[in-house]
Amino acid sequence: MDQIRIAGGRALKGEISIYGAKNAALPLMAASLLTSETLTLSNLPHLADISTLAHLLAGLGVEIGMNGDADNGGNAGRVLSLRAETISETTAPYDLVRRMRASMLVLGPLLARAGAATVSLPGGCAIGTRPIDIHLAGLERLGATIELRHGYVNAAAPRGLTGGEFRLPVPSVGATENLLMAASMAKGETVLSNAAREPEVADLANCLCAMGAEIEGIGSDELRVRGVAGLHGTDHEVLPDRIETGTYALAAAMTGGEIELVGARAELLSSPLEAFAETGMHIGETARGLVVRGDGRARSIDVQTQPYPGFPTDLQAQMMALMAVSDGASMITETIFENRFMHVPELVRMGADITVRGGTALVRGVAKLKGAPVMATDLRASVSLVLAGLVAEGETVVSRVYHLDRGYERLEQKLAACGAQIERVEP
Ligand code: UD1
Repeated sequence: MDQIRIAGGRALKGEISIYGAKNAALPLMAASLLTSETLTLSNLPHLADISTLAHLLAGLGVEIGMNGDADNGGNAGRVLSLRAETISETTAPYDLVRRMRASMLVLGPLLARAGAATVSLPGGCAIGTRPIDIHLAGLERLGATIELRHGYVNAAAPRGLTGGEFRLPVPSVGATENLLMAASMAKGETVLSNAAREPEVADLANCLCAMGAEIEGIGSDELRVRGVAGLHGTDHEVLPDRIETGTYALAAAMTGGEIELVGARAELLSSPLEAFAETGMHIGETARGLVVRGDGRARSIDVQTQPYPGFPTDLQAQMMALMAVSDGASMITETIFENRFMHVPELVRMGADITVRGGTALVRGVAKLKGAPVMATDLRASVSLVLAGLVAEGETVVSRVYHLDRGYERLEQKLAACGAQIERVEP
């Protein structure tokens, strides 16, 4: 299994292209199940999770065409056309779903289009128990019958789904997306309250509207969906990845460098950019995106993760890497997922001073981290180790990098192009 080897200490300078958001691309791909016409998605990132879902969709009968490539030097990314002329299969098998929790996103559209869906219970990142009860309760509210048997969810709505009112107990991103897709083709009106407001949910809703769905309240926590009999194809450009943006912004700042993030959109990251600015980072908008500069040692600040528009849980580990070398002490509180501090023992191996009590980590900034062999545990945890490696004295070797490949396209190339000493090696 590949490793990433980093020799720390270089200030990063240059530009990095921000690709389309993985977390928007996945539900958008699942939306292709809702129509017999072609859905063409552009600016898709080239990532393991995208291939996993493409594989799963192909097994359900979706014809997938690919053109364009992120290697062409542009920011256009990959273009994928998806055509589900007929649904030939309604089972999403264990060996694909276990690799990625987002496979659950086929449940809503399969039910809406084919009246039945059998989806294995999910796997994905090992960050807490991450149940799917809200997805299931919402679909039941729309008239589906649900049974759990032998590790599979069996859902059926042979006479179609019917609109209804559903309040999400917590604003789950995946459940909101699943229910939006299901409700767009249900009979009558659905009102989802306490819905997730993440920009990726809005991106999906906008695409569904372009496919003929009728959705009001996009971007708010109350979504009103008037079901329509059928949806049609469209072309849609995936919005830029705010988590990738935030991650490279932190890389620039931590190394005392300056990076232009081409294609980044500041309005998708108001809360993290505010937090970054408080630490002393310089952030400016440019004609092409954002420019971020680090100037001296960062100041420690307290951070608490929250659903959007709050500070994203997907940037918590990376922020902790910055706080590990900042001036002062920082309290980082994780409120979305339990067990999302798996990067802590690895950062401590590199000399960080961090203690965890419940959902809060107390990070006392140290002057220097020291390179060490460390292990990636989940997607965002692994990239925090890369950030730490970029500023550590000596060599850091991150193993189990398949986690990184799920969410960061060409990470080592992008960082190396800005002057980082980083390479992928076979052990
Ligand atoms: C999505 C993102 C993930 C991000 C997360 C929170 C994708 C593909 N992934 O994951 O990167 O970290 O949002 O921003 O978009 N919950 C339940 N029952 C459910 C569903 C969720 O209790 O049925 C809980 C979860 O355990 C968690 C919270 O709700 O505590 C939020 O999870 P959710 O928003 O659903 O995360 P995902 O959609 O899986």
